[in-house]
Amino acid sequence: MILLPTLYLDLHPDTNTLLSDVVDGLSQDQKTLPSKYFYDKRGSALFDLICELDEYYPTRSELSILGDNIDEIQHFLGESVILVEYGSGSSTKTRLLLDAIPQIDAYVPIDISREHLLDAASNILAIHPEMKVLPVCADYSQTVHLDLSPDPGSHITAFFPGSTIGNFKTASAIEFLKRVHTLVGVGGGLLIGVDLEKDKGVIESAYNDLNGVTAEFNKNILLHINDRIGSAFDLDTFEHRAIYNFQNHRIEMFLESTVEQVITINGSDYSFDQGETILTEYSHKYTLNGFEDLATKAGFTVDKVWTDCRLPFFCSIPNSQLIELLVDLIGS
Ligand code: AVI
Repeated sequence: MILLPTLYLDLHPDTNTLLSDVVDGLSQDQKTLPSKYFYDKRGSALFDLICELDEYYPTRSELSILGDNIDEIQHFLGESVILVEYGSGSSTKTRLLLDAIPQIDAYVPIDISREHLLDAASNILAIHPEMKVLPVCADYSQTVHLDLSPDPGSHITAFFPGSTIGNFKTASAIEFLKRVHTLVGVGGGLLIGVDLEKDKGVIESAYNDLNGVTAEFNKNILLHINDRIGSAFDLDTFEHRAIYNFQNHRIEMFLESTVEQVITINGSDYSFDQGETILTEYSHKYTLNGFEDLATKAGFTVDKVWTDCRLPFFCSIPNSQLIELLVDLIGS
């Protein structure tokens, strides 16, 4: 039996903005496409496959951190929690929290990919039929107006796993965290997964897997745009590139045109030289201090950090090669 959530909030994140985002992005000197457009149904499924790749360490590390520290996390979350997850995808990591922490009364997954969101919400309900599940289809990189009004004695904790914060530029990351800070309010908190700086080879292999799943995921942005606005990007004329930029502490993901070509969108022509790139994603890697700084600028104080020390190689440089999670409970 499929259980559907009784409440569902659709903030229609996709109306009108995709075309103007594409036009704006392709008009810049460094052509750019916003990484949120990876995530149509196929893109979300490809991302799930990425999370299972041998090379893609963040998911395994984070799952082990959550699993190993679940009792302490439960303690930090406190009583009567509304858990709001930004970019919930298939809610896999959240299952660890929902299954183990009975004081989570309600779950509010927010995702831009409507079908994926609703599938995940009904899967959660099938396992936790007593839980209040309120899926919200929205673009959380923009302001999301939610009136959750927790009852006295309960509070909101935001959950933002996967180091997705790394996909924001620094200024946008601070703006986003400020919005989270406002949403969770007094007594609320944030549990966030952040990927730490590590060996360049380890990072680059995670974004250049041998099976080419990340390449498919990267190219899917063009397929998604073709589907939505009828453009004619030919995927065979673009190559995936993912390079670690030391200076800016981030993976930079590109699609490189292998030929000289012109793409027409909405009556305007966008020309590509052979070798010209479209920037599709940043994935920033942090130091603990660097991230604490960012969180502080958004109004948070760091209460607790958990890191993963499982892989001996990763531990050879203490605290520099690991994933962290932190919880913040705002006192006033
Ligand atoms: C969603 N986000 C945290 C992923 C990352 O690692 O930056 C997206 C991704 N891009 C390529 N592989 C995974």
